[in-house]
Amino acid sequence: MATKIKRIGILTAGGDSPGLNAAIRGVGKAALGSYGIETVGFRDGFRGLVENRRLDLDRTALSGILTVGGTILGTSRDKPHRMEIDGKTRDMTGAIKDNLKKWGIDCVVCLGGGGTQKSALRLSKGGINVITLPKTIDNDVAMTDQTFGYATALDIATEAIDRLHSTAHSHHRIIVVEIMGHRAGWLTLGAGLAGGADVVLIPEIPYDVEKISEAIGQRSKRGSNFSIVAVAEGAMSRDDARVFDSAEKKLERAKSLNEKIEAKHAIAALEVRHQDNTLRLAHQLEGLTHLESRVTILGHVQRGGTPSAADRILATRLGTACADLIAKEQFGVMVAARGESAVPVPLDQVAGKRKSVPRDHPWIDAARRLGTCLGD
Ligand code: F6P
Repeated sequence: MATKIKRIGILTAGGDSPGLNAAIRGVGKAALGSYGIETVGFRDGFRGLVENRRLDLDRTALSGILTVGGTILGTSRDKPHRMEIDGKTRDMTGAIKDNLKKWGIDCVVCLGGGGTQKSALRLSKGGINVITLPKTIDNDVAMTDQTFGYATALDIATEAIDRLHSTAHSHHRIIVVEIMGHRAGWLTLGAGLAGGADVVLIPEIPYDVEKISEAIGQRSKRGSNFSIVAVAEGAMSRDDARVFDSAEKKLERAKSLNEKIEAKHAIAALEVRHQDNTLRLAHQLEGLTHLESRVTILGHVQRGGTPSAADRILATRLGTACADLIAKEQFGVMVAARGESAVPVPLDQVAGKRKSVPRDHPWIDAARRLGTCLGD
């Protein structure tokens, strides 16, 4: 198929995740191989677009990266409309548009999670041709079946739970394992189910510590005096969830700038307090159950290393489909996974929306039917 598109830019933004290089390779190889379109990579997210930090992604550069973790382009959490430049926060949308024109780049491919989808929508509204791919270990991007990075992180978290089982069992301990996922419970629920955790706590279901201790007590009565508690980094007790909710509602209702700043400060303070929630929970459980407890925080281990086969396939099929949409000049969309196909979804249907775990999700139902405690 003939296309007017000659050269595209590609960048990775937000937290890195396994599969990013597979996606870059998928876009670049399909763009060149099927349409003769050149690809240029921008370093460190949106900042590369502003500071003209780029590298040519020719056949050689795209070769040998499929299995490599992280992103060969580097990443950052910079936002194009609020970028720190010389100590000042500036909207760089206009500058980016001019740069792209100057460099002869017809479209920018942005690989990222929820924040990146929002930034991409702003660029699109600013008159820039953008197209995005959904990446994050959190799996919380709306309108796509799955994000790449999730499958690998799920495998890593599951293996960690497997390993923690034998040591928890040997020492008759509670092991509380904290799993990433931002404000969504996909990773914790998935790994908890796959790893057979006894308690699974996710942000979508605020917990009651007494219920957890009862469940652990029941296990002890049945002769299992150890337990694995998989807790999402965003999980909260019912009391904390109420406080958070009301702080967020205050922010939504805030009219003046002062009210907004005040509400944002209040939320930030709650977030800081939440940082040691897992340690507090382990301590509370030790007090209530009289079983010794230990905490394992998986942290960035979940994002590192080589992508799983599932993530390589997902990133490759979304990446190659992206090249086809670019050739057809279909911009302002995210390339979403839908069953076996890849479909374009307008960015305004994705940006600002989080895909949470529905309370009636089949995985929740399966966990309950196994007798897993979900803290409610
Ligand atoms: O969005 C991916 C993620 O790993 C979240 O699960 C986590 O909350 C966050 O990024 C950590 O961010 P950072 O790498 O900036 O500490």
